[in-house]
Amino acid sequence: MSTIGNSSHTIAESTRASKSDRSSVSVQSQNAALHPELMDALREHLRGDISDVDSAVILGSGLGGFAESIENRLEIPYEQLPGFPKSTVPGHHGSLLYGTIRNRKVIAFSGRFHRYEGYSFSQTVLPVQLSHALGVRHLIISNAAGAINTRFMVGDLILIQDLFRFFEKVAAFPSEPFRLDLMPAVHHAESIAKSIGLPVRRGTYLFAKGPTYETKAEVEAFRRVGADMVGMSTVPEILEATRLGLPVIAVSLITNMAAGVQKGKLHHDEVKVAAERKKHDFARLVSGIILSGWNPNEEAAV
Ligand code: HPA
Repeated sequence: MSTIGNSSHTIAESTRASKSDRSSVSVQSQNAALHPELMDALREHLRGDISDVDSAVILGSGLGGFAESIENRLEIPYEQLPGFPKSTVPGHHGSLLYGTIRNRKVIAFSGRFHRYEGYSFSQTVLPVQLSHALGVRHLIISNAAGAINTRFMVGDLILIQDLFRFFEKVAAFPSEPFRLDLMPAVHHAESIAKSIGLPVRRGTYLFAKGPTYETKAEVEAFRRVGADMVGMSTVPEILEATRLGLPVIAVSLITNMAAGVQKGKLHHDEVKVAAERKKHDFARLVSGIILSGWNPNEEAAV
């Protein structure tokens, strides 16, 4: 793998324009990008290194190992990307990866920006904005989550079917109102999982800002309102992707039972151990989705 800044190969000028024509024009035209000038600067910076990207992946805590599945890999540290802050959490590497999964071109964000690290909402969604600006067909978002649902087990892969966004501003405005329906994404990911013999489940994810893990009382309350798992990311990113008309599949790896569901204290190490154990299954699922070229906007347009 090589580490690059900006090089001078040519890029199809139309990467963004041609691909965005295929996606949900009505939503995109109503909901402007949050950082239009920054996105132009980023596209310009990456031009020559990155072109015609099919898929984007945001890698959750400890799931950076997916990088090993990417062939012909280039790594661009976030510090070299205009407008990108540095990621500060152990296990988060803070770089943009580019390469191929068989014949598909992918980018992966290894390291994300959490609200609990003090990043603003608009910083947390920079990877989503860049994926959209590069004209990807779909975005796959992953995270580590604590299980609230007692039927879930550590190591389960859960497709996010719905979400709670208590306590936080987790959407951009001004914006036109928009609707969230993750079920087409869940159905597609389930069909991929089935085809590769990988068990997955569905669940509703609750966003907690952190940085403290939830209290037992909170987890009990969250269970009563219908949450299956809790984590400190993903919801702003899902909502921003949806606002932009970018198809999104989100998957949680259960790394621990949430507070009160298991005895003892929660540690960040637990998250890393569970992620390490499941990294191959996670990579198979994500690669399967990438290879499928999923884009419901294209299907709808046919
Ligand atoms: N709570 C919040 N975030 C998390 C957890 C949890 O239990 N596990 C992994 N990320």
